[in-house]
Amino acid sequence: MIQSQTVKTERHFQRFTRLERIMHILMIISFMSLALTGMTLKFSYTGWAVILSHVFGGFQFAGYIHRAAAVVMFGIFVLHLYDVVFTKRREYGSWKALLLGPNTMLPQKKDLQDFKDSMRWFLGRGPRPQYGRWTYWEKFDYFAVFWGIFVIGSTGLTLWFPEFFTNFIPGWMLNVATIIHSDEALLATGFIFTVHFFNTHLRPEKFPMDLVVFTGRMPVHELKLDKPAEFEKLKADGTLKDYLVEPYPPVVIRAIRVFAWAALATGFMAVIWIIYAMIFAYR
Ligand code: HEM
Repeated sequence: MIQSQTVKTERHFQRFTRLERIMHILMIISFMSLALTGMTLKFSYTGWAVILSHVFGGFQFAGYIHRAAAVVMFGIFVLHLYDVVFTKRREYGSWKALLLGPNTMLPQKKDLQDFKDSMRWFLGRGPRPQYGRWTYWEKFDYFAVFWGIFVIGSTGLTLWFPEFFTNFIPGWMLNVATIIHSDEALLATGFIFTVHFFNTHLRPEKFPMDLVVFTGRMPVHELKLDKPAEFEKLKADGTLKDYLVEPYPPVVIRAIRVFAWAALATGFMAVIWIIYAMIFAYR
């Protein structure tokens, strides 16, 4: 009883800015739309794709939704690059501090060590590593989006504007682009809805769901447990208090949960569809 009261009134640590949270929500909506409409087109000969196509207003309209969602995704990407430049100016002062400091998203030696120590920990042969602000799997997920935008986005554009691109590339490359776009998209969808979902929501420390990317904040005791190196650093340099905020009221959390559960459920359904389509219906 005493403990639950402590947790309830505990102040929270601000991990994500408002813009980052909005971008992640838009990313979820655009990615889900792209994945569902894309799979409906790819597996158009299956019964469930026909049902989904009715939801989207027909196969042709699924293609329009796909393109609109792609524009949103490109927009988020550009906005994120702008935000990185802005964050560098506002918080770090130099590229060196942003890219080589303790909060960097770039892979560091510590990430390799954390990875090895994590394997030992999984096997019960060592303690949980002292993860910092960004763990090795969070960095991997972050750069996977860059790779995806580059590979899926560029091939998607060639499918969208074939007349324009065939001014520069031979026609057969459009066939190659379709295969790359289609299979890489399937890989991305499979990865996000299994590995990313597991790492963020289903691992024992966070099960069944981590709301931090929606609320932007987490209880301080959770920061201490989950990202001990970051907690110790903030405590040591006396800046932890600058990040302390009040938790959201329960009604806001409930609304967020509804959205997050809907996204998780859609993702899991998509995985089941992909597995079914690959095993029983692939042409
Ligand atoms: C972000 C930029 C993207 C652009 C510009 C783009 C564009 C396109 C276009 C123009 C098509 C052809 C649609 C039609 O026939 O009407 C297509 C098909 C497809 N897209 Fe995308 N797309 C993008 C991202 C994605 C993503 C993120 C996914 C999945 C996660 C995805 C999955 C698919 C699939 C599975 C198909 C069907 C391919 C096939 O027929 O085998 N796309 N895309």
